[in-house]
Amino acid sequence: MRDHSLSEREDSGSYNPIARVLVSRRRLAARAAQLGAQISADYAGQELHMVGILKGATIFMADLARALSIPATFDFMAISSYGAGSQSSGVVRFLKDLDEGIEGRHVLIVEDIVDTGLTLHYLRESLAARRPASLAVAVALDKSSRRQVAVPVEYVGFRIPDAFVVGYGLDYAGSFRNLPYVGILRPEVYGG
Ligand code: IMP
Repeated sequence: MRDHSLSEREDSGSYNPIARVLVSRRRLAARAAQLGAQISADYAGQELHMVGILKGATIFMADLARALSIPATFDFMAISSYGAGSQSSGVVRFLKDLDEGIEGRHVLIVEDIVDTGLTLHYLRESLAARRPASLAVAVALDKSSRRQVAVPVEYVGFRIPDAFVVGYGLDYAGSFRNLPYVGILRPEVYGG
């Protein structure tokens, strides 16, 4: 079989930009199933309106949504964070707003990762102002040691250490989102 430089195998001869697999495909799938069951129990008898934050949340949202046993609807929002380089500033620009109103709905914001918390804090505030019936957040990954602002996150996939990770929706310069696992990128790839 053809050798693939992005395989989960770490012995694959060719150069691998991923230093280490942090969360395997199997653990991601199991955790999404668990969270889906928990969310279904918490919202029993209600319809969930899932709001995915483009583009990073798409993979986690697809897994989470299919693990729900309650009815769910989807909307998406695209944002961009103002700030120098990879530093989040907490000032968020809406590149694509929601298609539908959320007043009176049970809204679950779905995000790939919470790092400083600035983006999620801003998102929570601005969606809360639209008067949903309830508002909660699900993230695939949480780098809690980097938090700058306390923001409630009701559903967390995995708490991870402070490292730059890619895969399962997360990118570096637009690449690596489609890796089926979460990996730590080699610092030399991003000049770190
Ligand atoms: P926060 O405002 O600092 O919490 O930033 C959250 C956003 O930063 C996420 O939605 C990601 O787009 C990005 N981000 C933070 N850490 C990583 C990482 O390790 N890999 C890829 N993107 C990241």
